[in-house]
Amino acid sequence: EPIACIFDLDGVLVDTAVYHYKAWKQLANSLGFDFTELQNEELKGVNRMRSLDMILQWGGIEKSAGEKEILAAQKNEQYVAMIRKMTIAEVLPGALDLLTALKAEGIKIALGSASKNSALILERTALAHFFDAIVDGNSVSSSKPDPEVFLKAAELLNTAQENCVVFEDAAAGVQAAIAANMMVVGIGKPENLPGAQVVINDLSEISIREIEELRKR
Ligand code: G6P
Ligand code: MG
Repeated sequence: EPIACIFDLDGVLVDTAVYHYKAWKQLANSLGFDFTELQNEELKGVNRMRSLDMILQWGGIEKSAGEKEILAAQKNEQYVAMIRKMTIAEVLPGALDLLTALKAEGIKIALGSASKNSALILERTALAHFFDAIVDGNSVSSSKPDPEVFLKAAELLNTAQENCVVFEDAAAGVQAAIAANMMVVGIGKPENLPGAQVVINDLSEISIREIEELRKR
């Protein structure tokens, strides 16, 4: 049976982590505390409201549900202002070549992202046309490490879970892929991505043959 590939967006296909970081840092600073890159690492793959909850906890601040809605909207406004200016230059190394090769071989491709801004990002970076299915923060109720996002993607691709390969840069995303009973390629540093079958620096470091080999491990 053919494999299918499910890609996380932020940190795997495009370099948006820096924009999330800047927008959250601005919010934290406006509330009177700092926000580090190490903390930002923990927010990768985590949805917007859950991220805000974690940041407020780090800052030792409590807010009502209504105030949180406003703060999350403020952060998103800052973030969207930055990603609106994104270009295809911000597609990460190897992503375009791998997507092109997968498409040429007829291997199905899905997006499995926690972001509610995926449509804008895919449009700005001209990647939208590669995807046979898109599952993002607008279509799931549970955040990674819950497997919902990847299970939905597999269902839309009509592919059994065990034939899906997930590409993830977030610890929560790797856990979600494992919970979904899928293969997983980590993007980043091995120490940040426990459980990934293989960890690479970016998508230029893996070929279709190597991806298919994962099934035999
Ligand atoms: C991705 C990022 C997270 C972000 C989440 C929601 O998973 O790695 O850092 O919080 O998407 O993004 P959004 O664009 O909906 O705020
Ligand atoms: Mg990510």
